[in-house]
Amino acid sequence: MFITFEGPDGSGKSTVIKKVYEKLSSDGYDIVLTREPGGTPIAEKIRDIILDNSNQAIDARTEALLYAASRRQHLVEKIWPALKEGKIVLCDRFLDSSLAYQGGGRNLGIENVLNINLFATENTYPDLTLFFDVSPEIGLSRVSHDKKRVADRLDNENENFHEKVYNAFKDIVKTYKERTVIIDASKPLEEVIEAAYKVIKTKLDGLR
Ligand code: TYD
Repeated sequence: MFITFEGPDGSGKSTVIKKVYEKLSSDGYDIVLTREPGGTPIAEKIRDIILDNSNQAIDARTEALLYAASRRQHLVEKIWPALKEGKIVLCDRFLDSSLAYQGGGRNLGIENVLNINLFATENTYPDLTLFFDVSPEIGLSRVSHDKKRVADRLDNENENFHEKVYNAFKDIVKTYKERTVIIDASKPLEEVIEAAYKVIKTKLDGLR
């Protein structure tokens, strides 16, 4: 079972995914927790290039290709082997982030970005995606109030960029409604964690 957590910046999904991982692990599930861009040493190096604030000259298509490259390496080295061993993989961001940020935010087009990703992933889609729905206004205000968070190159994009990302996410959720569940991420953190945990637990119980 391959499960992805998606949403705009400041949706809280990175905190939620850690808590859900802990809960499912203590239930006895064999789980791998990972994230994109990154997840393996090579993919993390690609991540550093992408998110480095000094790399202002990165072209939009270069950016999309780097995300896809890091994704492939992550699949080959970590996700596919774990799935083969029968583990549950929880991944913080995956394909839908590229469709929303590069396809929507960077105006490359969802279809174009999907195509390079299908090459990279050999048509691997998640079995289940949780979309943490929060407006860009709330998301960005959370990011700017989080003192521990160092804003990366994408966080530092303007409001219009984040608005386009959010709208693209909404379209993507509609396109992939069979695998996607929407979680209201404007609610208090504890409620969001509980909602996400329940969705996954129900899906896993259904497989037994
Ligand atoms: P990350 O630092 O993990 O942000 P967050 O904690 O908000 O999840 O992700 C880095 C940034 O990369 C984030 O702003 C979203 C962006 N991103 C893309 O633009 N395309 C992608 O394919 C992925 C995976 C992330």
